[in-house]
Amino acid sequence: MSSLSNKNILVGVTGGIAAYKSAEIVRLLRDFGADVRVIMTPAAVEFIRPLTLQALSGNPVHIELVDAEAEAGMGHIELARWADLLLVAPATANSLATLVHGAADTLLGAVYLATPATVAIAPAMNQGMWLHPANLANIAELERRGATIIGPTSGLQACGDVGPGRLATPTEIAERVAASFTPGILQGVRVIITAGPTREAIDPVRYISNHSSGKMGYALAAAAADAGATVTLISGPVNLDAPEHCHLTSVISANEMYLASMQACKNAHVFIGAAAVADYRCVDVSSQKIKKQACNLTLQLEKNIDIITAVGSANDHLYVVGFAAETENLTANAQLKLDRKQLNAIVANDVSRTDIGFDADDNEVYWITPNSEIQMHKKSKTQLARDLIQCIANDLDHRTVADISG
Ligand code: PMT
Repeated sequence: MSSLSNKNILVGVTGGIAAYKSAEIVRLLRDFGADVRVIMTPAAVEFIRPLTLQALSGNPVHIELVDAEAEAGMGHIELARWADLLLVAPATANSLATLVHGAADTLLGAVYLATPATVAIAPAMNQGMWLHPANLANIAELERRGATIIGPTSGLQACGDVGPGRLATPTEIAERVAASFTPGILQGVRVIITAGPTREAIDPVRYISNHSSGKMGYALAAAAADAGATVTLISGPVNLDAPEHCHLTSVISANEMYLASMQACKNAHVFIGAAAVADYRCVDVSSQKIKKQACNLTLQLEKNIDIITAVGSANDHLYVVGFAAETENLTANAQLKLDRKQLNAIVANDVSRTDIGFDADDNEVYWITPNSEIQMHKKSKTQLARDLIQCIANDLDHRTVADISG
């Protein structure tokens, strides 16, 4: 649903090994409907040929600060005025320092100073460089001035190091750029989101849990925060970094998630239950490690409270969105849960598939309300989360929001 049609995106490519990924970024931005122009620093030209970016953007690439031909057509002031958004991707440590200090000795530096456009920056560098206080101070300063910082992610780097500093994926960068043109759809709305699995202890070393990675709930939290909401993310144990601009409450068991949800929902407008909450817990949790038995071990389980039903019935005005994890009769079973749990909407996903649902990067769902059913085709959880947030914003009864805003 995010679109960049009629948007002018100016991509500044700087000189690092990740510069080759700018080709994919330019292609994705054009797929989203943007008109794209590219500025390369002289160092970037050492890593990727301008012709590649010219072919993909469909426009001449701008390199020289003083270029007689460019000045006659698109000089730095024209480029600065033309852009709706300046995206610097990848942004090296040196280019970040240049932007912070306002140096105008490259075309990119001059355009940055001159442009009234929104600025987004996707850094990429060695992990030691990223973590250096000088670099982190530069990032903080650019953020303070209003730039959106996209990434970096953590992992194996081109130099062989492992750590933070990898360029965010081209898909995430393009999606964040697209999202920046639809801000504020949940401005002033307080959203509580549960994510990940819960763990129900058997003894001090064993537990009952499930395959939820938290990716879906975390993507929703990031999308809601990007849409201007105040977000509390109540998360079971996952291996994900907290999304930016969200308040994270970490829990382990379903009961802890229930208590945190009840507390958070007292003052909220929207609750989204993306967590895979364990339906049962052990009646007796052994205080010592249970020794291996000669024969079978029988555990007695009791039902956990249904969190989403409890928060809905305790908070009259709360707009409640559930998820239905189904392996058969997807929409029919989801409809039953929608009714039984008295939800405003339910997101149905088929968790028998390995390419979507649990622990996958993508998902494919139905958005179901008491009077509508919309199929959302397979896409990244990041993109899908934005679409779901749009559905929620469309559906929210603003009078209800106003009622409990005080
Ligand atoms: O975390 P990922 O790896 O990204 O995977 C995403 C997901 C598959 C976990 C997610 O898309 C999803 O389907 N989440 C809901 C999983 C689930 O528990 O579904 P359910 O059909 O069993 O429960 C229905 C609803 O009731 C859910 O909103 C659930 O959060 C809620 N529930 C369930 C039990 C319980 N005791 N309390 C609850 O609130």
